[in-house]
This record gives sequence, C-alpha cells and structure tokens, in this order.
Amino acid sequence: MRWWPLLLALAACRPGTATPAPRDAAPADVDGSAGAALAGLDGSAGAALAGLDGPALYGKLCAVCHGADATGYQADNAPSLVNRTFLESATDEQLRRSIAEGRPGTSMAAYGVARGGPLAPEAVGALVAWLRGHGPPPIALPARSRGDAARGEALYAAHCRRCHGTKQARGDAVHLANPRFLDAASDPFLGWAIAKGRPGTSMAAWEGTLSDAQIDDVVAYVRAFDESAAAALLPPPTGKEPIVLHPEGRAPSFEPRSSPCPPSRADAGKPACAPDERFVSVDQVRQALAQKRRLVIIDARPPSDWMRVHIPGAVSIPYHDLARLDEVPNDGTWVIAYCACPHHLSGDVVDALRKRGVRRAAILDEGILEWHRRGYPVVTAPGVEAPPQESRGLFMPGVPR
Ligand code: HEC
Ligand code: HEC
Repeated sequence: MRWWPLLLALAACRPGTATPAPRDAAPADVDGSAGAALAGLDGSAGAALAGLDGPALYGKLCAVCHGADATGYQADNAPSLVNRTFLESATDEQLRRSIAEGRPGTSMAAYGVARGGPLAPEAVGALVAWLRGHGPPPIALPARSRGDAARGEALYAAHCRRCHGTKQARGDAVHLANPRFLDAASDPFLGWAIAKGRPGTSMAAWEGTLSDAQIDDVVAYVRAFDESAAAALLPPPTGKEPIVLHPEGRAPSFEPRSSPCPPSRADAGKPACAPDERFVSVDQVRQALAQKRRLVIIDARPPSDWMRVHIPGAVSIPYHDLARLDEVPNDGTWVIAYCACPHHLSGDVVDALRKRGVRRAAILDEGILEWHRRGYPVVTAPGVEAPPQESRGLFMPGVPR
C-alpha cells in the first residue's frame, strides 16, 4: 500500500486551510537590505532574536517546518523553499511578502512586524538573501495571455484538485486559493510553476500535457479563487495577560496520550519508542475550560496568528521567544501549549517547559485549527472564519470525486 505512510504522516500533523486574511492592513514595509541585524517592534519579540543573521534566523524560526536545508516537508505541506524553478520564478518581493504576511489559516504564520510577527524588514531581507544563496536568481518569465476561467475549472478538477484541493478544502500541496499567496504570486509565476513543475517533488511539469492556452485557462481559474472578504486583526498581545486561567479552580483531570511509535521502527526490529504522554485532546481541554479548571494555555505560534484567532485566555508565548515561560508556575498547574501544525511549535514549548521541570505540560493534540473547525470557543478578529474542512481522502488518487 503506497499511501499508508502518507496517511500516518498526515495523522501526525494536519494543518488547515486558508481563511480570509486582512486586506486593509498595510503590507510589511520591506526594503532591499539583506542586513543581519534584527529589531522587533515591541522590543520583547526582537530581544530573543536580536543580532541573529540570516542563517541563524532560518535555523531558529523556519527549519522546524521547512527543514534545515529548506527542501521542505519537515512539517506537512511546508514546501521546498529552494527548488530551482521556485527560486528562478519568485521575485525577492514575493519572497519577502510570503515571509512577512504568511498564509493565514495554514501553519505558515506572518513573520513581519507589520502583521504582528517578530521580524523587522531587515530580518526578512536577511532571510530572503539566505534563501537566494541556495538557488538561482530570478529570470525574466514569459508573459501570459488572458485565459478562460470556466475552461480552466474543468482542467483544474481533472489534473490539480487531488493535490491542491479546492477553494474551501485544502489538499496536501500548497493551498493556491490562499489570498496571501495570490496577492504575492504573479500570473507568469503561476504559469511557470505549472509548465515547469517543481523538479524532485510530486509537482510535475505540465507543459507536455497541457497546451500554453490551457495553462492560461488554469491560471485564470486559480486567480478567480481570490474573492475573499476582509478581516481585521485583534490588538497585539500586551505581554501582561494573566498566565493562569481560573487560579481558584480545581486541577483538570487530563488523560494525556502518548505518540504512537513509528511502525517503521518496529519493522526494523528496533525497540519501540519510549511512551511519552504529551498529547491532550481538544475535547478534554474544552471540558476543562467549561468547568473553569485551573490551567495555563499557551499559544506557541507567532503573535500574528494569536491576533487572528486564539483560545479564550490563551497567553501568547511564541516558540521563537520563550521569555514569558519564566512566569509559568511550577506548582503542578497543568500547562497546555498549542499551534496550528498541530505539534511542531507547541512541541518546542512543551520541551522547554519540561526542561524547566514543569512536568504537567502537554500539547493540544489536534491543534488550534481543528479546535476552531469544531466550533469550540475562540476569540477571533472580526471576519475570521473557521478553517475549511480537511480534504484528506476526498482527493486521494483513485478515489472518485
Ligand atoms: C509551522 C510551520 C512553518 C514555519 C515555522 C514556517 N513555515 Fe513557511 N510555510 C509553511 C507552510 C505549511 C507553507 C505553505 C502554505 C500552504 O500550505 O498553503 C509555507 C510557505 C512558505 C513560503 C511560500 C512558499 C511558496 O512555495 O510559495 C515561504 C517563502 C516560506 N514559507 C518561508 C518561511 C520562512 C522564511 C520561515 C521562517 C521565518 C517559515 N516559512 C516558517 C509552514 C511553515
Ligand atoms: C501529485 C500532486 C500534484 C498535482 C497533481 C499538482 N500539483 Fe502543483 N504542486 C504540488 C506540490 C507538492 C507542490 C510544491 C512543491 C515544492 O515543494 O516545491 C506544488 C506546487 C505548485 C505551484 C507552486 C506554488 C508555490 O508557491 O510555489 C503551483 C502554482 C501549482 N503547484 C499548480 C498546480 C496546477 C495548476 C496543477 C494542475 C495542472 C498542479 N499543480 C498539479 C503537487 C501537485
């Protein structure tokens, strides 16, 4: 069965899909400097990253999902950032915007200060310079003609949907309907990606299969995904939000689960991995909240994501700036950390807590996107909707659509 390793990977980490993103906020004020220095807007976020150069920033902030060598897929859906056809077709401005504005509703947060992230424009520039060092400079791309979106729709359904999903439901590959993606990607960029593919990945070169005019039609259809409504952001976290929820409440009676040992290990005759009870389900946490139990909930994502949507009472302690962990009591109070992925960034925070001796620290198992999708309580910026359903299975090869 070719697909079951993929399914296991998906079960371990299942990010969600694009939802409307802020349109009225100004894009990050980016300049061309590839300088190494970094200054956060609010001081606190900058402090943890101050002085880091491009490689160090990449290692600290990005490798966890895009991999140490940036070839991607350390976390689900996180694409290669150094593929030749990507780097030769993406402009520096596009790279800056992708990093600064993120892909709201996916695990790719907005890292620019203008959107509540930790990175000043120079730091974003340093990351772009680092990426550029791993591949070719941009080339002049062929212009595209105006295609027919209706014809493109049929081609997309036949050839693209099983990996890229629909407007409402994502697949496993980059979600093309994300408004931030479409803001940053030009038609020539889209056409180049479709024609040339992404060598070494499952994204094939379609130029032999589709004619130039058909590629224009598909581009027109993808472009037409972008009609989403505006959403504003919540004010940024002040750093003064109370850490402990319901300090007078009783302790919740969580029953954490362990992560399953990867079956490949058993196959290889290696000892099963040590049980590590570090995952608490969204249902248990929702119940503890409803019963006003004493606990700490940490949002491990960059603050820009907290400013879109968070669990009520969740305190923003991003994986890249753990200073506020000092305020977390080490007195048996349960601490739950969450992110969107749903385990990578929260896992970092739980590791850091355990290093500090906080034993009752666990990861929100299904993550915030699934919490939101299920309609559990959230604080959102106006206009932010629950992420679309996952499309797992729906777009599996061979499954009738
Ligand atoms: C928690 C996981 C995660 C982290 C951390 C993360 N990314 Fe991403 N990134 C993603 C995902 C997932 C996508 C694709 C969005 C989608 O699924 O549609 C993405 C997309 C991108 C893209 C657009 C790529 C394309 O093909 O259009 C760029 C550029 C990027 N990330 C750079 C970065 C940089 C630089 C950092 C560090 C500052 C970073 N990312 C941190 C998950 C992550
Ligand atoms: C078998 C799965 C699969 C199919 C089918 C597929 N893609 Fe892709 N596509 C991917 C993957 C995976 C990537 C990201 C590869 C990487 O890591 O660089 C991608 C990347 C892209 C990108 C570039 C996104 C970016 O930001 O870099 C575009 C545009 C795209 N695909 C469009 C299409 C279109 C249009 C079709 C149909 C003609 C299609 N794809 C069919 C898997 C697929």
